[in-house]
Amino acid sequence: AQIVLEEVKTEVVTLKQQGIEPCLAVVLVGDDPASHVYVRNKVEKAQYVGIRSLEFRMDATASAQQLLEQIDALNSESSVHGILVQLPLPAHIDESLVLQRINPNKDVDGFHSENVGGLSQGSDVLTPCTPTGCIRLLKDSLGEDLSGLHAVVVGRSNIVGKPMAALLLQENCTVSIVHSKTKNIQDICQQADILVAAVGRPKMITADYLQSGAVVIDVGINRIQENGKSRLVGDVDYEDVFAKVKAITPVPGGVGPMTIAYLMLNTLKAAHSQFKETCKD
Ligand code: GUN
Repeated sequence: AQIVLEEVKTEVVTLKQQGIEPCLAVVLVGDDPASHVYVRNKVEKAQYVGIRSLEFRMDATASAQQLLEQIDALNSESSVHGILVQLPLPAHIDESLVLQRINPNKDVDGFHSENVGGLSQGSDVLTPCTPTGCIRLLKDSLGEDLSGLHAVVVGRSNIVGKPMAALLLQENCTVSIVHSKTKNIQDICQQADILVAAVGRPKMITADYLQSGAVVIDVGINRIQENGKSRLVGDVDYEDVFAKVKAITPVPGGVGPMTIAYLMLNTLKAAHSQFKETCKD
């Protein structure tokens, strides 16, 4: 993550020399404590790399209409290049309606259906930060060419599982997705050269799910009580699998920081492409 942040920092300097100040707007609705922590980290990292960040906080009782109006205002503001609405939203607001309202060119989360569709077709669109960062981690460990490797994705969420599978396919991996209705999860996981766990089940993946030398990416962040203390663990039993794997990401400190680094990279990408569009006009 630190390497990516340094790359972004250098690129920001170049953009600023061209007269563009990349800017990310983060919208936070309600008072979910974890969301507040995530947003604070995003704003801090933006500052670190020289990206301007704007934070918009709305009350948990804000209406969908108020949120949509905020998004419209940010869509029309040409100095804002990236818009991120922190999830989850309060239950009374339709998440999909909100995500669809964001201008796809400013959708640094890559959640708008235009970007989801683009990813599925292999176009150069904004892609979700977590899985895109995971590809970077995998290439760091396995080299640039992931062709022919069997990648097993555990979980099928819109935020991680599905885009992860699409990105791995783009890298010419053989991709399996396993989920709560899959019959023989353990057998399939045992065939994995790459295993990406994103299910939200603490320590579900133990050593007997893996073949020796597998590369494991743990996207899970679960708070558990252990020996009377609260601590964060992943979907993988880190201590149990450690000796068996080629490489594994820790929780916390693995995928999380990389996700934020890729958010910065996406903001840069969005700023670049909006600048090119203005040059055409
Ligand atoms: N909440 C948890 N993960 C994410 C993410 O990747 N993007 C947004 N916007 N909210 C999240």
